[in-house]
Parts: sequence; structure tokens; C-alpha cells
Amino acid sequence: MSLAAQLLTLPKVFDPRGSLSFLEAGKNVPFAIRRTYWIFDVPGGETRGSHAFKNSHELIVALSGSFHVELHDGERPQSFVLDRSYKGVYVPPLQWRTLTNFSTNSVALVLSSSDYDEEDYIRDFSQYVRIRKTR
Ligand code: TYD
Repeated sequence: MSLAAQLLTLPKVFDPRGSLSFLEAGKNVPFAIRRTYWIFDVPGGETRGSHAFKNSHELIVALSGSFHVELHDGERPQSFVLDRSYKGVYVPPLQWRTLTNFSTNSVALVLSSSDYDEEDYIRDFSQYVRIRKTR
């Protein structure tokens, strides 16, 4: 059964020396991690993303600062606020996803189930809605 998009609360290990959180494939990451990338130095007011993946699963974490993850399944929008280093959003394939409202110095860590492949991107929203309807 495929998982729905959802906010995940990651483990947090509090310590007077500083806090620690972690991700483990197959445990709190619901897919095998193939690639990791991160988005940083986002100028005020910019958005990233605005596309969907045909097959890739992602888990997005605000390692630093905060931003919003806006999803759209072709019918309904869904919005998640990532403002803690121990929170993540799981994004299954075929979700239109946009990252917005980046705070200064925020860092978005993205875990992906696949290699970078432009062929896996759907960058046109109306094409995305058409593909969703066929699935
Ligand atoms: P992209 O995923 O299109 O980011 P956004 O949707 O926020 O604009 O990535 C921007 C460019 O970065 C893309 O055209 C190619 C490059 N890129 C890689 O080379 N490897 C990667 O893993 C990613 C995510 C992007």
C-alpha cells in the first residue's frame, strides 16, 4: 500500500550539549535512499520546485530555518510548515510540490529514492493533472 504525503516527526535526542536527530532508510524514511541534495542561499521571496516526479519518493527536512512545502494532488492543495530540524514531509510520487516562504539562512535537505533524472520530472501543471487522471 502506498503512503500518503505526511508530516513526520523525527526522533530527537535532547542533550545539554545540543540536540540530535536522524534518518534511517526503511525505518523513519519510507524508501531506500538513493540521493541527497540540499537547497540553501534562497533569496527572500523565491520559490523552488513547482514540479512533480513520476516515480521518485522524497523526504524534505528543514535542517535550518523554516519554509513551507505546498503539495497539490491535482484536486486538493495541502500545506506543511517545516520550522523545526526534527520535522520532515514525506512526498510520494505524483505530487505537485513547491517550496516557499524560506526564512533567511534556511537549508532544505531532500532525500530522494532515485538518481537525478530530468525524465522523471513533470514541470507543467496541466500535464501533471492529465497524468494524474490516467492513474
Ligand atoms: P531542480 O530539481 O529543477 O530544482 P527546482 O525545481 O527547485 O528548480 O534542480 C535545479 C537544477 O539542478 C536542475 O536543472 C539540475 C540540477 N540538479 C542536479 O544536477 N542534481 C540534482 O540532484 C538536483 C536535484 C538538481
